[in-house]
Amino acid sequence: MELSKKVKSITPSQTIEITNTARQLKAEGVDVISLSAGEPDFNTPDEIIDAVYEAAKAGHTKYTASAGLPELRETIVKKMARDNNLTYAPNEIYVGNGAKQVLYNVFLATLDEGDEVIVPAPYWVSYTEQVKMVGGEPVTAVTTEDTHFKLTPEILKAHITEKTKMLVLNTPNNPTGSVYSKDELQALADVLAETDIIIVVDEIYEVLTYGEPQVSIASLNDKIKAQTIIVNGVSKSHAMTGWRVGYACGAPELIAALSALTSQSTTSVAEPAQYGAIAAYEMAPESTEKYRAIFEARRDNAYAKIMELPHVTCVKPEGAFYLFPHMKNCAEACGYDTVDEFVKDVLREKHVAFVPGSGFGTPEYARISYSLDEATFNDAVSRIKEFIEEKSKI
Ligand SMILES: Cc1ncc(COP(=O)(O)O)c(C=O)c1O
Repeated sequence: MELSKKVKSITPSQTIEITNTARQLKAEGVDVISLSAGEPDFNTPDEIIDAVYEAAKAGHTKYTASAGLPELRETIVKKMARDNNLTYAPNEIYVGNGAKQVLYNVFLATLDEGDEVIVPAPYWVSYTEQVKMVGGEPVTAVTTEDTHFKLTPEILKAHITEKTKMLVLNTPNNPTGSVYSKDELQALADVLAETDIIIVVDEIYEVLTYGEPQVSIASLNDKIKAQTIIVNGVSKSHAMTGWRVGYACGAPELIAALSALTSQSTTSVAEPAQYGAIAAYEMAPESTEKYRAIFEARRDNAYAKIMELPHVTCVKPEGAFYLFPHMKNCAEACGYDTVDEFVKDVLREKHVAFVPGSGFGTPEYARISYSLDEATFNDAVSRIKEFIEEKSKI
């Protein structure tokens, strides 16, 4: 069957591919440890599951308004005021099938053929592919370790052209774990406020910070707020990846467009799942603290362990649940030209799965998730260490 040019230009998600390979090996009985997870390893809290059950029993099993249940949009309005110090009206909130689909719909609703979108690298794999899917041109702005992989005003300015329509920011960041401070956001905002560039800020890891708490760029001033579309959801904050609920906050005309798109594509998010998101945001914010604290302890352990690997260096992450070590020297010491080949052989020979940095626009690095218990994580790092010691002897 002849597929479209558009679909042929898409690179499938490397993260999901590796996770699937690890899953398949596990199903075949191989003792695989996956450090590729992009989701919390906890189950959704019982009170959310109970609320969904009650809602379904009460008949909330139907289509809903395409922009989301009015009750959920109201709840998100309250959440934004409580947690982010931001005032939105319900008609400035759109609910979609996870932040990933919300982002796709945002790109579809805002980008025309050839519009440029600045995406700082390392980037989450889906931004560039989704931008391409809707005809936009991703423009990668490479960041470096010395700024903890954060976009600086200088790098931003160097990538702005007359075709620039949008900037995508992600804080806390996947894959680097970096978190932008208020001052760093202000410095970017000073540049952006002079332009009409739309700022899409993906805050899906909002609650997982281990230093300064998350600041939303939209909270800096009204001009920036008007330029900004916040994307967030319950996947990472409430261990609800499988429920598929995310949202966007932005200008009413954007929200109306997202709603119109949804009315002709997926109709709405599953109604019971939307009740789950209401229950999640009605839980006391402290309820996410216990998960955050667990992840902080895991971050400390994971960082210490990774720093023990020969030839590997790593910036200490401040958020999310990933390490993003530089592994090119290590790969070379083991006789590999690329980190991709190194990663493949670690999976084949030591049964540890993690994601090479090539999928994130930075092939000298790799992403290691620590969303799993410490003992298993440590076992995985021991296997990687063993691999390096064996190979670098050859
Ligand atoms: C940076 C980032 N944004 C968005 C998503 C997607 O989240 P959701 O499950 O809400 O679609 C992920 C998931 O891995 C992510 O890492």
